[in-house]
This record gives sequence, C-alpha cells and structure tokens, in this order.
Amino acid sequence: MHFIKKSNIIRIVEYYGFLRSMKKEKRGYFITFEGADGCGKTTQTELIKKYLDNKNIENILTREPGGSELGVHLRKILLHYEKPVSNIAETFLYLADRAQHIEYKIKPALEEGKIVLCDRHTDSTLAYQGYGRNQDIETIQGLNKIAVNSILPDLTIVFDVESETAQKRLTGEKDRLEAEGIEFHKKLRAGYLDIAKKNPKRVKIVNANQGIEQVFNDTIKIIGELLNL
Ligand SMILES: Nc1ncnc2c1ncn2[C@@H]1O[C@H](COP(=O)(O)OP(=O)(O)OP(=O)(O)O)[C@@H](O)[C@H]1O
Ligand SMILES: [Mg+2]
Repeated sequence: MHFIKKSNIIRIVEYYGFLRSMKKEKRGYFITFEGADGCGKTTQTELIKKYLDNKNIENILTREPGGSELGVHLRKILLHYEKPVSNIAETFLYLADRAQHIEYKIKPALEEGKIVLCDRHTDSTLAYQGYGRNQDIETIQGLNKIAVNSILPDLTIVFDVESETAQKRLTGEKDRLEAEGIEFHKKLRAGYLDIAKKNPKRVKIVNANQGIEQVFNDTIKIIGELLNL
C-alpha cells in the first residue's frame, strides 16, 4: 500500500461516494407502517396508496408477512398454524418471508424509483419477537440486518393506540398473534414506543386513537415532508 499516495486513496473513496449518491438519486422511497394489531395499518396504507395514485406518483402497497409468492405460504403458517410454534421458529419464518420479499419485490420496485408502502416490516419482528416474546433485541436486530440485505426504510410510521381500543377494533376472527392477550399487546406498544425513541430520525409516531380521517391527515403530513408533496 505504501506506493499509493494518500491523496489518491482519498480520491478513490470520494469517487465511490459520488457513484453511490448517483445510485441513490434514482432510488424510490421505502416507507413502512407499524403498530400493534388493530391500530389501523391496513386502513391507512390503503388510503395513502389511493392518495399517491391520485397524484400519479408511482407506488406499490405490500405487506409482511406475505408480500412475495413464497411469503403467501409462510403467512398462512405464521398466522393460522394451529399447533405450537417455538419462538425461534416463528422468528426465522418471519425473516425468511422478509428476505424473499426484499429480494423479489421491494428492491426491484425501489430500483424502478417507486414509493414502496409496506404494512409491517423489520420493526414488527423487533416488537413482537423481541419485546413481545422476550427474545434478545440485539440478536433480532442482527438477524433483521441479514434479512434486509442493506435495504432499510427511509421512514417508518408507528400508529400508536391504547391497547384496549385496538383490541375492541378487532371484531372478526382473530389470527394467532391477534389472539394473544392484552398484556402481550401492551408489551408491543411499549416496544414500539421504545423503537421510536431510539430512532427519532426514521421513526415517527402518529396518534391512532383519533378518527380515521385525522390519523390519515397526520400521516400524510409526515409523508409529504419526505416526498416533497
Ligand atoms: N382510527 C380508527 N378509528 C376507529 N376504527 C378504526 C380506525 N382505524 C381503523 N379502524 C378499524 O379498526 C379495525 C382494524 O383496523 P386495521 O385492519 O386497519 O388495523 P391493522 O393495524 O391493519 O390490524 P392488523 O395488525 O390486525 O392487520 C378495522 O375494522 C378498521 O375499520
Ligand atoms: Mg392489517
């Protein structure tokens, strides 16, 4: 190395930085929506998609688990498998779903410059399997990192709602995770608030105790700032 001048090394590093920033310019935006069951993610993401469609902003709405073809099979297992599932098996199933989703759906859409709206992503695993099921947070973070292959959300909206209110909203037949008791859902809520506190730039909390329209207005304001709408 001693025969390469220091100034040349700096030039090479700067050139790579320039190339990466050029690549970034073309990339779309990755926005994830999080919060405990019944907080309103599906309701709001569908409204946001319509809003972007009306403005002719190219976007896709996707979800986890089940955003890829393989994921559709994994979702059935994750939400409806009737026999016991170990905490570790559950975590790895979510991560397999995520890895496939990132590679075959999210990454290609971002490379085409689209806005990717994703109903649940890495923070769900952190909240449910980490805070909810008491698995080591740092381990989950490490596993998430492997699954996403460096593709991280530009913005994450956490819909924060009283656990009792969210439970009351879930009137249909409950899936495996929704059927967990109120204590579990309180742990999730606290987990999400902690995640937001630790990632203030990326994660924004929206008060989801309000009516659907007000929640939408608050959310679109935050998204508008990111997208310069
Ligand atoms: N702000 C709100 N006020 C009152 N009811 C709401 C609100 N947002 C959503 N709902 C209703 O609550 C129920 C659950 O909402 P939704 O399915 O959007 O939640 P979710 O976060 O996607 O839940 P899950 O995690 O189980 O998929 C739906 O019947 C929906 O119409
Ligand atoms: Mg939903």
